[in-house]
Amino acid sequence: MTRLCVILGDGIGQEVVPTAIRVLERLLPDLQIVEAEAGWGCFERHGQSVPEETLQRMRECGAGLFGAVSSPSKQVEGYRSAILTLRQCLELNVNLRPVRSWPQVSSRADVDLLILRENSEGLYIGREHMQSADLAVAERHISRQASEHIAQRAAEVAGLRASRRITLVHKANVLPLTCGLFRDSCRQVLATAGLNNIVDERLVDVAALQLVESPDNFDLLVTTNLFGDILSDLASHWSGGLGMAPSLNWGQGIALAEPVHGSAPDIAGTGKANPLAAILSSALLLRYHWRAAALADQLESAVERLLAEVSITEMGCETTQRIEQELLRRL
Ligand code: IPM
Ligand code: MG
Repeated sequence: MTRLCVILGDGIGQEVVPTAIRVLERLLPDLQIVEAEAGWGCFERHGQSVPEETLQRMRECGAGLFGAVSSPSKQVEGYRSAILTLRQCLELNVNLRPVRSWPQVSSRADVDLLILRENSEGLYIGREHMQSADLAVAERHISRQASEHIAQRAAEVAGLRASRRITLVHKANVLPLTCGLFRDSCRQVLATAGLNNIVDERLVDVAALQLVESPDNFDLLVTTNLFGDILSDLASHWSGGLGMAPSLNWGQGIALAEPVHGSAPDIAGTGKANPLAAILSSALLLRYHWRAAALADQLESAVERLLAEVSITEMGCETTQRIEQELLRRL
């Protein structure tokens, strides 16, 4: 039996995740859903954005689907981003973010790349302090272990995708110690995996320009946490924007699928939310965590046909519901 821990979260997470689950249930009829709470609403109810029980349920299921969470605009004592807490506590060390062209929503037809973002360290360790009243300092940690780990995942994904190129993205000209360790550790692992001939590297600023100019030249990009955060939003433009951007937070034997978009409070409850990022995130669980590539292909090709055949921009308040119906019809 396949178990899925479902964390709806806040805002449109409450709408897009149930839709994604109904789609997933069509492909996995024995799917068992285990619900868990996280996010701002959860913090208001329980004083924690991620209760211990949620972590426990995630560990028991091994797979999760996370919707979106709101964050307060001011600093609130005791509150910490739910998704960052989940990534850290569950050791979801790699974030997989595919970007590809889709009919109707993409402005070019030839993009198919995958960003592997280190998901546990870098500037995200959250160590900031005021050294004096006029100097704020943030620490950036890059470890050999985490760098090797993401490179191992890159080798694995390169095999699954039959990648023609792996691009390491860094800023080692300015940060020779941190970015240098990242690059060298990755290179070593990829050489050991026999992939030396397809490994390439780019400085992050150059990579940003080239992702805009010629995204078709990239296949697999491997980078550190903050660079991956920024480049994945930039590149998601080619998929049709954040409404089409899926991700998988990937650990050892545990994975949490997550649409990259936020909780969109402005459209929450209106029925206008596009559930495709959540649905495509569940396809990543199928492909990379459950190793059910045929089902992932089936789901992604149904999304492709839907977008080729039905205009999703005119659905208005019926967007979430109509996309579900149209997709189920094509599965
Ligand atoms: C993302 C988001 C998060 C991040 C925020 C919400 C903390 O931007 O998943 O890309 O920076 O990782
Ligand atoms: Mg981001």
